[in-house]
This record gives sequence, structure tokens and C-alpha cells, in this order.
Amino acid sequence: MKRPVKIAITGAAGSVCYSLLFKIATGEMIDRDQPVILQLIEVPEAMDALRGIAMELEDCAFPLLHSISLYDKFEEGVVGAHYVLLLGAKPRGPGMERSELIAANAPAFASQGRAINQFANRDVKVLVVGNPANTNALCASRNAPDLSPAQFTALTRLDHNRARGILANHTGANPKDIRRITIWGNHSNTQFPDLGHATIYGEPAMSQVDESWYRDHFIEKIQKRGAAVIEARGRSSAASAAQGVINHMHDWINGTAENDWVSMAIVSDGSYGIAKGIIYSFPVRCDYGRYQIVQGLEISDFAREKMTATEQELLSEMKTVADLLPKETEASHQNLSVGLRSGQYLQTDRVR
Ligand code: LMR
Repeated sequence: MKRPVKIAITGAAGSVCYSLLFKIATGEMIDRDQPVILQLIEVPEAMDALRGIAMELEDCAFPLLHSISLYDKFEEGVVGAHYVLLLGAKPRGPGMERSELIAANAPAFASQGRAINQFANRDVKVLVVGNPANTNALCASRNAPDLSPAQFTALTRLDHNRARGILANHTGANPKDIRRITIWGNHSNTQFPDLGHATIYGEPAMSQVDESWYRDHFIEKIQKRGAAVIEARGRSSAASAAQGVINHMHDWINGTAENDWVSMAIVSDGSYGIAKGIIYSFPVRCDYGRYQIVQGLEISDFAREKMTATEQELLSEMKTVADLLPKETEASHQNLSVGLRSGQYLQTDRVR
């Protein structure tokens, strides 16, 4: 039997988590033979609800669920964590953009970054889901000077899955036969869901869809899908977000499928001319806990314009949180450049 790993999760009594925790406990996130310790974190007012969820988890008698502990202080809940999933944040309501949440949410992510730096396992992998996810991840990462920026990621796998599902539905293909979709940029309505390199049954996707459907409908549909779900449900996506989290972490830990790549928002190393240091979604391949940006893709003028628009939005969000971003230290520069040397981000690329 493997040694259990510790997973710290915020927003643990929230609706995304209600779908997520049971998947983690059955081994969907890491491996079917990997025992897990759940360190569930909530605000004090939600602790009763969290206790109820812990009871339900216990009542499922999951063989892989080693133990559960509940915390109302982030600093305690994150101790020794190998994986940290930051879901807790104020959600947006109908008619809002995610960037409107910056003032309400970003400061908490900066302080969570400090606590992760101090208390989590040195090889921790962090996924930010709370919105605006890219900029929150930037705040967390920049406040964790002893860790590599490469250890902090934000979720665009939900957008990636949306693009795959909607393309499958449009073409009649099975989602598993659709590959090489890319989400570039911000998890916002400026993101660019790119089908320029995608394939369906091994053939270019763009030869199987109408160009005007792609340009005039598909792109906007993916960009605004989160808002459409909120409009229809009266609250944000939950089960699909949980599925995105499972897919993101699973592939980061275990590797991407052959002949495919996935989208992850990660610190930019300047690839494709994107400003260094922002958290931007790229096409990546993962392999045993590492990830690498897919290089050498041809970028059309159409794509370049969209990639730049979402980059500009992230740069402007970064300005908004400037007060929360301590000046980069010598150590964090080294952390990033060690990763860049081989073009790979290694979990061990941090300097103590
Ligand atoms: C989503 O994309 O569904 C989530 O980020 C929630 C939201 O505010 O859209």
C-alpha cells in the first residue's frame, strides 16, 4: 500500500467541492491505489455544513480515504499538504465579470500564498480555482518566495473541456477523438479557445467545421459559457468545474494522453511572445509531475490578435493587484530560470 498523500482544499463546504471530494476519495484525481488524507478548510460559519460532508464521506467507507480533518484556519489546514486546491472565494453573480471579484478575493490568495510557502510540503502542487483564477494564482505564487512559481497553476481545463464537449456535439464526434485543443490566456471572456491545431479523428478540426461557425459562434460560446451557466442555474458551474479540477490534477500528476495536450494556466516564461511572469493558459504536456509548454505551433494573425487581447487583460489585472505582489526576490528569479533552462518546470526547481 502506498503512503497517503495530504490534500488541502478550501471552500470545502461549497458546491464545487461537493462534487469534487467524492471523486478524490474514489481515486479519480491521483490514482486508484493512492490513499488520501483530506484536510478540508472552510470559513467558521460553514463548519457545521462541512461536518455534515465529512460524515457523508465517512459513510461511503471509501477504501482510499485514510482520514479527514477539518479546519477553520488556512495556516493549520495547509500543513504538510502535497496538493492544495484553492476553491474558496466569493463567486460572481449574474451579469458580473470575474475580474470584478479581484478586490474581494485577491488579498486572501496573497495571504494563502504566504501560508503555503511556510507550512505546505516543499513539493506542493497548487491549483487555483477561485476567480479571477489567473490573477489569484499570481498573487499566491508571488507571496511564496521559497517555492517555484511553476508550483502554482490556475484552472482553464474547465474551458478546455467545454471546447471539447461543444465541438463534439457540433460535429457528432466522440470527445475522446478530439485532440489538441488549446485555451490561451485568461479564464475570462477574453480567453482564446483555439481550434487551429485541433484534430478530430486525426484530421484537422478546421476542415470539419465551418470557419464562420468557429469565428462567430464557437469562440464566444466558450468565452461566455460560465456566464451562461450562471444565467441558467442562478449559480455558477459546480460539477463541471469539479471535473476540470480532477482532469487538471490527474494529468499534472500522471501525464497527458499520447498525441494530445491540455490547457493549464501557468507562469509565462515568454513562450509565444507572451509577457513573462503572468499566469497565462498555454498548451502543455505533462509527464510524471512536470509540465512543459508545447513549442513551435504556428500562430496565425487571427490567433495572435486574440492571444494578445487576453494577455493585455492579464497585464491590466496584474496592475490592479500590484500592492499584493512583493518585489520578486533573487530566489524566485532563480526558481523560474532553473525551470526555463530545460524548457521544463520541475517540481524540485526551487531554491531554499
Ligand atoms: C466557470 O467558468 O463556470 C466558473 O469560473 C464560474 C464563473 O464565474 O464563471
